[in-house]
Order: sequence, then structure tokens, then C-alpha cells
Amino acid sequence: MESNAAALLLLAQKHNLMSTTSHTADTIQIRDLTFQPLFSESEVQERVAILGLALSESHKGRTPLFISILSGAFVFASDLIRQFDGDCEVGFVKLSSYQGTRSSGDVQTVMGLEKDLAGRHLIVVEDIVDTGRTLHFFLDHLQQQQPASITTVAFLRKPEAAQFDVPVEHVGFDIDDKFVVGYGLDYDGLGRNIPGVYQLLEK
Ligand code: XMP
Ligand code: MG
Repeated sequence: MESNAAALLLLAQKHNLMSTTSHTADTIQIRDLTFQPLFSESEVQERVAILGLALSESHKGRTPLFISILSGAFVFASDLIRQFDGDCEVGFVKLSSYQGTRSSGDVQTVMGLEKDLAGRHLIVVEDIVDTGRTLHFFLDHLQQQQPASITTVAFLRKPEAAQFDVPVEHVGFDIDDKFVVGYGLDYDGLGRNIPGVYQLLEK
């Protein structure tokens, strides 16, 4: 038992898991791009806790259905629901409008919800609102199913990039119009497992 714990400690030290600053101290490289730290893991967690508190208050006594937009929002959604104090359900949809580092134009539903949404209190969880196209399309789609209410939560938002007027009740952070990775967000499939957020370093 003891030698097992000592081995785990050594492994954690080797991989820098014991340090709280190692993830945000330096730039990171993903394929051809370099990214610089934007929000540390603790800044992210602090903000998510506040969002969870706000939703717990506004949805007290309800059993909301969190709808997480895949793939990017799955990390944010998993933390957010654990900050929600009360009964809730969770569902997932897959939409797509992004390729590489720029929005591609059309939004498609790749995978849908099986639940009946009529009369439900929905909390839509999005990783990032860029042009607003994805949410605009999706909120429209949800409205048609006559839910009791729709509340939208976005972990990040790029106000300068907005092209569609979409209601987002709760935003984690407003950021510059630069590509970001980490905390569920990817560049070409990589970077989703980074606990903090990194921003593209433009040379
Ligand atoms: P729209 O333009 O529809 O875009 O608001 C929202 C979707 O685009 C993706 N997106 C990003 N993904 N880093 C990413 O990894 C970014 O900086 C970024 N900006 C937008 C994301 O999937 C989001 O759901
Ligand atoms: Mg993506």
C-alpha cells in the first residue's frame, strides 16, 4: 500500500502534476501553431463555480435539462453540472460549423436529442460563441419544440466576431477574436485535455 502511494507520488512529480503553475507558465505548441496562456486552471474553475451558483439559484426547484453541444462543450458541461445544486438531466447534441481555425458557414445537426423537450427548462451549454451562427441555428431549432424556458451558458464569447444576435444569459469570459484551445476546445483535434485556456500567439 505504502510503496504504491510513493510510486504514484514519484509519477506525479515526474509529470509535473504537483505544480499548480506548470500548465500556464509557458507557451505551448500544437502542430504548427504556438499558443500563450490566457486563463489558468484555477481561474477557469473559479468562474465555472460562479456560473453553477447562478444557475442553481435561477433554476431552484426545477429539474432542468442541460444540453451540451459536442464536442467542445463536454469538459465545461461536466464541470458545470457538478456545480449545479439540485436535480438535473443531461443530454448531448452534435452540431458542426467549424473547420481548422475559421467558421465554415453552414451548421449541421450530426447527432440529436432523443428526449421530448416540450415544457422542459433547458440550459444550453456551449464552449464558445464566435460568430453566433451555431447557437442562432440551434436555439431556433429548440424553440420549435416548445420548451418552458431556454437559458444559454457559454464558457467563452468573442464579442468582436459576433454576426448573429443571440441571447447568452451567462458567459464565463469575453475574449479577443483570437483562436483559443484547451478546456474542451481543440486545434485540429488536439488540446481538449488542457485544463486551462491558451490563445493563439500571432507572430
Ligand atoms: P460560431 O461561429 O458558430 O462558432 O459562433 C461556434 C463554434 O465554433 C468553434 N469555435 C472555436 N473552437 N477555438 C476552438 O477550438 C476557437 O477559438 C473557436 N471559436 C469558435 C466551437 O466549436 C464553437 O462551438
Ligand atoms: Mg472545434
